[in-house]
Amino acid sequence: MVTQDFRDFSITNWYENFKHICLKSLLIEIPPEVIEKFQDDEEEVNSQNCPEQFKEQLRNALNLLNKSAFIKNNWHAPTDARMFSFDNNLKAVTVDDIFMYLNSSLCIRDDFDTVKGVPFCLCLRKWINIHPAAEFRLIIINNMLRGITPRDWPTYYVHYKEESSQIIEELSNFYIENVKIRFPRQNYIVDVVYSYPDKPYILDFGPLNSKTNLYAFTWKEIQPLLLKESPEDVAPVFRYLENDIGIMSKADALRKFANAHST
Ligand SMILES: Nc1ncnc2c1ncn2[C@@H]1O[C@H](COP(=O)(O)OP(=O)(O)OP(=O)(O)O)[C@@H](O)[C@H]1O
Ligand SMILES: [Mg+2]
Repeated sequence: MVTQDFRDFSITNWYENFKHICLKSLLIEIPPEVIEKFQDDEEEVNSQNCPEQFKEQLRNALNLLNKSAFIKNNWHAPTDARMFSFDNNLKAVTVDDIFMYLNSSLCIRDDFDTVKGVPFCLCLRKWINIHPAAEFRLIIINNMLRGITPRDWPTYYVHYKEESSQIIEELSNFYIENVKIRFPRQNYIVDVVYSYPDKPYILDFGPLNSKTNLYAFTWKEIQPLLLKESPEDVAPVFRYLENDIGIMSKADALRKFANAHST
């Protein structure tokens, strides 16, 4: 991400405007002396070497979230530290859990190492059990919702086909009513959770570029749309797996994706 991306997509810059359609989240500024420890590869942050006031803020936040929190920095969750959690669920119950995830996640530490000019924060969010089939990534091009992809890709869910027109309609309306124009970019992705009959809600925003995981779509087919003027009114494409492709083809599809993104 470039500096402007880090600014625009930092949760500190969008949460206030969208909190009525997000999971309850508490944003806590991380003191510079704690960041310095994360930046030092030899050092770990723990209950002993961390400022008392910061620890107190984390404890209070955990209490407000019923001692069950999902954590992120301004941009990323420590998904690469998932294997250190019970049941791979990335749930934080104690302050030590939070430090453990942050210490073990390379993607989080990488942000602390590279981003300049954006104050670092920790986002504690109410932990909920999200069904993988309910997670969608919306692709926004020139302020229009053009693509909808499941994030659990490539997994076959029979109800996607049965409910496809309803998924398209519900997510289009959600985008138009709640997101369009309100986000300060024209091209981006927005991650939502939606399962009928619940209302959709937002998990995250992110940049749209060649590094973005587009799941069912490829950058090759999305990139040309960025350069063209958008048609006035066009329905988004919801792409999902229409048949159960079996475990071997699934491995194959994931390998193709990995290859496309390693170049
Ligand atoms: N509040 C929550 N409770 C439980 N699980 C959650 C919560 N929020 C997110 N998750 C799970 O963690 C996954 C990763 O979260 P999220 O998409 O916010 O991470 P990210 O680092 O922004 O990912 P990406 O780099 O793909 O944008 C989600 O797909 C979802 O399955
Ligand atoms: Mg994200």
